[in-house]
Amino acid sequence: MANITVDGKILEVKEGALLIEELLANAINIPHFCYHPALGKDGNCRMCMVEIEGQKRPQIACDTPIKHGMIVRTKGANIDRVKRSILEMELINHPVDCPICDQAGECSLQNYYMDVGLYESRLSTPKVHGQKHVDLGANVVLDQERCVLCTRCVRFTQKITKTHELGVLSRADHSVISTFPNQPLSDPYAMNVVDLCPVGALTSKDFRFHKRVWFLASEEAICNRCARGCSLYVDHHKEKYKDEMIYRYRPRFNALVNGYFICDVGRLSYHQENENRNFHPMIRGKESEYEYAEGKLLRLFKRNIGKMLLVISSSLSLEEMVRIKALAGMYDATISAYEPNRFDEHFGDDFLKHQDLSANARALPLLGIEEHCMGFSEGFEQAELIVFIGRSDIDMVKTLAYETKNIALLYGYNPPFCEGLELLLPITSHTGRAGTFINCDGIVQYSNCAITHNQGHKKLLELLAMLLGDTLNTCEEVWEETIGKLEHFQGLEFEKLKHTAQKISL
Ligand code: SF4
Ligand code: SF4
Ligand code: FES
Repeated sequence: MANITVDGKILEVKEGALLIEELLANAINIPHFCYHPALGKDGNCRMCMVEIEGQKRPQIACDTPIKHGMIVRTKGANIDRVKRSILEMELINHPVDCPICDQAGECSLQNYYMDVGLYESRLSTPKVHGQKHVDLGANVVLDQERCVLCTRCVRFTQKITKTHELGVLSRADHSVISTFPNQPLSDPYAMNVVDLCPVGALTSKDFRFHKRVWFLASEEAICNRCARGCSLYVDHHKEKYKDEMIYRYRPRFNALVNGYFICDVGRLSYHQENENRNFHPMIRGKESEYEYAEGKLLRLFKRNIGKMLLVISSSLSLEEMVRIKALAGMYDATISAYEPNRFDEHFGDDFLKHQDLSANARALPLLGIEEHCMGFSEGFEQAELIVFIGRSDIDMVKTLAYETKNIALLYGYNPPFCEGLELLLPITSHTGRAGTFINCDGIVQYSNCAITHNQGHKKLLELLAMLLGDTLNTCEEVWEETIGKLEHFQGLEFEKLKHTAQKISL
């Protein structure tokens, strides 16, 4: 460790680390475009200038290793003048079209201008213009005029995906980011360049012009599209009298799981949270009131003690699984989490995407829940009522079951079919229910997103509490009463887990 002084304050930092890393880690605002923790330094933007005592000229913090005793100034008349001059250079040909720019409200350039710029333009010659809409492929659009040539996007394709689709074309003030002829941006992580771009040069076709960012609220969640369980922000907004809408998923930094990135499939999977949500409870194909359907569910359980198979999704949360296990004990039912289509070898890769599409299958063996075909078949043979919980693949028994079995479905999305079901009871979908998930590497994470929709569907934990006849219907209560006492989770503190992912041995 080393002690350095920054703006008169003594900090204890890592000797030899980059100065910018320690300044940012200590919440010291240091403008930067080209440096990014996942991509390292490049030194091209010169925005991160600081004064270092003993050095004649200001230095860039992203290429300055820390030495014990260093005295650094990040503000003051001299360094502010330097930053303002660099910003003026950056903005010489920039269109400053913030009112129509999708990045407005979360743009580093806009923020830095408000912090240290605030100058009148001295430009009397026309600006160099570029193309305003270049389709790079993979849902990404480039506005050449807004680009500050930090090369973060280029370095992402060089260092992270190693697909090398982007480069810098031409020279001086005609330099532009470009793909190579007939080689569009096409890797499965391409949309991360939109998050990396510090300005509004790269925008997502999926999000651009849909919502101003200052209307959005962010929740911390976990992607449930595959076993990696990447950490996400869910950006959502509710207009007056309308239902809650999700506008985008963004990666949330998690050093243990996904670093700074997510895949495009996971990123775009928010669409299913918005689409086809507005469905009603159905009893034998007829629409029903929610309360009545809930009562019907309880009656079905009571009538079928010892004759039920609960077929659960392995993407349910740990809390929901634990409570379903208690439910099976109470009603003498069999549980199966057998999913014939759980694995997709074409989906997996050696970065984040995992061929196991289940978000929480690691919890099954820890809770003693059966996940094999044989267990499912035996349970199916013996059962008279099959209850699918959180599963969309009910058609796997559709033909067979109609002859002999009653089927109930508790599901968060528009079901694949509902004719002939004894009961269809909607529950809140993934982003409407908080819960804990264990990823493919044994990392336990809490998804803290519980967006409320207009339909008033209940959370699964609430329905399970009703069936169990108790009041444990929040994750906190389930952790306190049951999970915290289980062997594998001892030592994990729920309050800590809410904010920090933790590893367990599987
Ligand atoms: S497009 Fe964005 S990320 Fe790429 S070089 Fe330009 S400003 Fe940087
Ligand atoms: S890698 Fe898996 S968990 Fe991560 S964003 Fe993609 S689909 Fe979601
Ligand atoms: S962030 Fe230091 S030069 Fe760009």
